[in-house]
Amino acid sequence: RLLGTASAAGVAGLALGGAGGAYAHAAAQDAPPAPLTSLGSAEVPFHGAHQAGILTPAQAHGHLVAFDLVPDAGRRQAAALLRRWSETAHRMMRGKPPVGGEHDTGIALDAGPAGLTVTFGFGRTFFARTGLKDRLPAQLAPLPDFSADALDKKRSDGDLWIQIGADDALVAFHALRALQREAAGTARPRWQMTGFNRSPGATDRPRTTRNLMGQIDGTNNPRPDEKDFAERVFVPASGQPSWMAGGSYVVLRRIRMLLDEWDKHSVGDQEKTIGRRKSDGSPLSGGGEHTEPDLDKRGKDGSPLIAADAHIRVTSPDSNGGAAMLRRPFSYHDGFRDDGAPDAGLLFLAWQADPLRGFVPVQRKLDRGDALSRFLRHEASALFAVPGGPREGEYVGQGLLE
Ligand code: HEM
Repeated sequence: RLLGTASAAGVAGLALGGAGGAYAHAAAQDAPPAPLTSLGSAEVPFHGAHQAGILTPAQAHGHLVAFDLVPDAGRRQAAALLRRWSETAHRMMRGKPPVGGEHDTGIALDAGPAGLTVTFGFGRTFFARTGLKDRLPAQLAPLPDFSADALDKKRSDGDLWIQIGADDALVAFHALRALQREAAGTARPRWQMTGFNRSPGATDRPRTTRNLMGQIDGTNNPRPDEKDFAERVFVPASGQPSWMAGGSYVVLRRIRMLLDEWDKHSVGDQEKTIGRRKSDGSPLSGGGEHTEPDLDKRGKDGSPLIAADAHIRVTSPDSNGGAAMLRRPFSYHDGFRDDGAPDAGLLFLAWQADPLRGFVPVQRKLDRGDALSRFLRHEASALFAVPGGPREGEYVGQGLLE
């Protein structure tokens, strides 16, 4: 009913807009305030066993930003920054202005939190800069070089990392701007990437999102109700180092898609590349989107229905000693390249308890050449330790920094 009220007001506004924008503006000002839609008022808790933005369904808008500490900032300054950042994230995730609100930019003044999440991580270089080498987790060992990598070092790695997600673009940018301002004097942005996903309400019912190749992407993610889910994605309470209990390691890859090449292929060819139908995401071995793919099933000519080099065969946990990761990506588009092709693809984000059991073995196999890799270019890479969620009164990373 609330949604109905809001959209009725929107339609009236549009009709008036057709007759003259000024009238629409006046009408909107006179109208009694309508309650925020469910989208604007959606609030994700800041505190908990895990940081928000990992299990939260991926939002429509995202920003990823890495910072490097300035030369004279050490552990003490980093701790003060994480305290400030945590307070601001906590406030903004409840729809409140950031710390020091009197200087706030006002970008999201009239909006609710719109499902905002802010997630913080630490890169390998952070530990040497802050004299905390003895607390460096073994899991932050540099990722191996993969033969097909063409990485831009300036857009890779970083001391500190923030992932922002929200279902409103202004709310997401507001958080990015507030957190960047608060870093001044302590840390400088190293790189920043902006991504997007399907908006809630854009489809007839909640559906798995599509990527920019048009594929349904995210179907066979591990699910929280599976018995080994927590063990695959999160560091256990008794895990080492202890400041990472409840935390996770995130691998980021900026993967450009060769979309002009991809579009030259028939839908049939594109489906063989993945091993799933484009229309509904069902495996080529039969069934619906959520039917388990049958990797052994063969067609009339005796060849496997899911090809030997199909992406889902090569990445399947069954063919990787059970390795699994939670994929929670954003799509990106940064205009067009000099050759006229879209600079677009996937900000691939994989969450796991240990990258050496999750991302690394799978990427090693993909790097040997699955059918999909011919259409991809890995252009940036990073790995961050994302500590568990803060308890009331704590800031993120307190266990590491105190
Ligand atoms: C599955 C696309 C990169 C790991 C899939 C699926 C699609 C897809 C469409 C099938 C639907 C699903 O289960 O989500 C892509 C695209 C990529 C990409 C477009 C790059 C732009 C990667 C990378 C990795 C990876 C770099 C890991 C190193 C997986 C895994 C699955 C999967 C583990 C599930 C396999 C299964 O158990 O069925 N991907 N992928 N993907 N992908 Fe990717």
